[in-house]
Order: sequence, then C-alpha cells, then structure tokens
Amino acid sequence: MAQLIDGKQIAETVLATVTQTTGELSARGITPGLAVVIVGEDPASQVYVASKSRKAKECGFHSVQHTLPADTDQATLVALIETLNADPAIHGILVQLPLPDHIDSGVIIQTISPEKDVDGFTFVNVGRLGTGEIDSAFVPCTPSGAMIMIERARGRDLSGLNAVVVGRSNIVGKPMANLLLAANCTVTIAHSRTANLPELCRSADILVAAVGRPEMIKGDWVKPGATVIDVGINRIPAPEKGEGKTRLVGDVAYDEAEKVAGAITPVPGGVGPMTIALLMANTLVAACRTAG
Ligand code: GUN
Repeated sequence: MAQLIDGKQIAETVLATVTQTTGELSARGITPGLAVVIVGEDPASQVYVASKSRKAKECGFHSVQHTLPADTDQATLVALIETLNADPAIHGILVQLPLPDHIDSGVIIQTISPEKDVDGFTFVNVGRLGTGEIDSAFVPCTPSGAMIMIERARGRDLSGLNAVVVGRSNIVGKPMANLLLAANCTVTIAHSRTANLPELCRSADILVAAVGRPEMIKGDWVKPGATVIDVGINRIPAPEKGEGKTRLVGDVAYDEAEKVAGAITPVPGGVGPMTIALLMANTLVAACRTAG
C-alpha cells in the first residue's frame, strides 16, 4: 500500500509558519492584504473563493472579497484591478478563474501588477519561472503545493527522476513541468493528443495528473513505487449515497493506484488544501517584499 501524502496536514504546517510570520510583520506595521475577486455565481468558484478569504483572515491578513455580478463588463473589472494595484493595503490580488465568456481573461490577468500577482499568472512571473528565476517569481499555488508534497514523499533531491505531467494548462500543467525541470527531473508533458498515454505514465517516477477527467488514470498506468500527485477535483454522481448525491474524485482511480504507487495524494485532502496554503505564503512574501 502506498504512503498517503496528507495535504491537509502539510498545509497546516505551512499555514502555522505563515501565521507566525504574519504576526511578526504586523508588529512592524505591515499586515499582509489579500483581495479576492469573483465575477458571477459559479457554485464551485464561490466555495473556493470563500475558503481563500476565510483562510486569509485566519492567518491574520487583511482580507477583502469583491463579488461582482456575472454581467460585469471588462472595463469595470480592469478599473477594479487598477484600484487594487494602487492600494498600499493590498499585497496580493487573485481573480478567480474562469471568468464569464464576455471577459477576456488574458487582459484581466495581465492588468494585475506582477508584484501583487500571487497566482503567478502574469507574463513577468511566468517568465521568471520559465527562466529558472524561481526565487523572484510568484509561482502558481497548485504546482508549488504539489512540489512540496513530492519533496515530502521523495526527499529534496529529485535529480534524474522521470516526471510525467498529464495536462498542459497554464494554471497547473506548464508551471508544474517548469518546477520539475528546475529540480533536474526529466519531464514530459502529456495531453489529450498524446500517443500511448498509459505506457508513458508507466515510465514516470513522479506522475502528476491535472486533466480534470474523473478517475482517468488507472492503477495499471502507475509504475510500482511511483509518487502520484492527483490535482483533479471532479464531482461525480454517487447513487450509493442516495438519490441526487455526489462525491469528489480525482483524475486518478485512487483505489487501484494506491496498491501500486509508493506514495499518493488523496482527493479530497490532498492538493486542494496545499493550494490555499501556498496562496497565503505567496501573499505573505508579497507583503514582506514591500517591507524591504
Ligand atoms: N481557478 C481554478 N484554480 C485557480 C487558481 O489557482 N487561481 C485562480 N485565480 N483561479 C483558479
């Protein structure tokens, strides 16, 4: 049986450090400020945003949430971000994605000041990560949380390991690949057009699943002893729990994979809590940078 990588517990240790450092920084007159912006009423996004705002308060941050109606126009959203860029009480700005179709997400993301871009989505931060300038970058929270979990399972030296990242999104797949590359792994990014995906996955010492397809990665796709990081959060019908009930599953068929893997993250309680913890860590770093 695989070792369970307990994201909830690792996230608690990250958050404890963030909370303590926030106390020290606040005593010097700087309280980290996080602004979370949501447009529309997507229920999953609302849950994520509420938990980000709540966690920010628990860390001792100044936490503000801007909830805008689904028909908000792009210019209004740009104006709000420009106001937040100029607000010295705000150190981190997060615009929850996806945005409604009539808004160009690219324009919105690039409006965020790179120094407040705690999601790490602006060209400046993507470029810093891509060129290996990781210490000066804000790295996207999900892959950065996943890296901590990988290091917990395998130790800090990942040199020469084969890593396969399934999924090529800007939020997870591409930054994850860059982080693994910076850690001297041999990295392959797989996607919906990849040939022989099961075979490729079986070559992975580190397998990261970020495709958003429930239980797509089967147990016999996993190399014995591999570290499996499941980024997927998919809600599927669960008639066994009663009519109309649902449950959360990852992109990996957990019950099969845990029999083969060396270490594996659960869903829920794996990568999810780490994403929020790393958002708090990034916001604290943004605040510390303003302190010089
Ligand atoms: N939507 C899903 N994941 C994320 C994330 O990490 N950041 C933002 N801003 N939106 C998301």
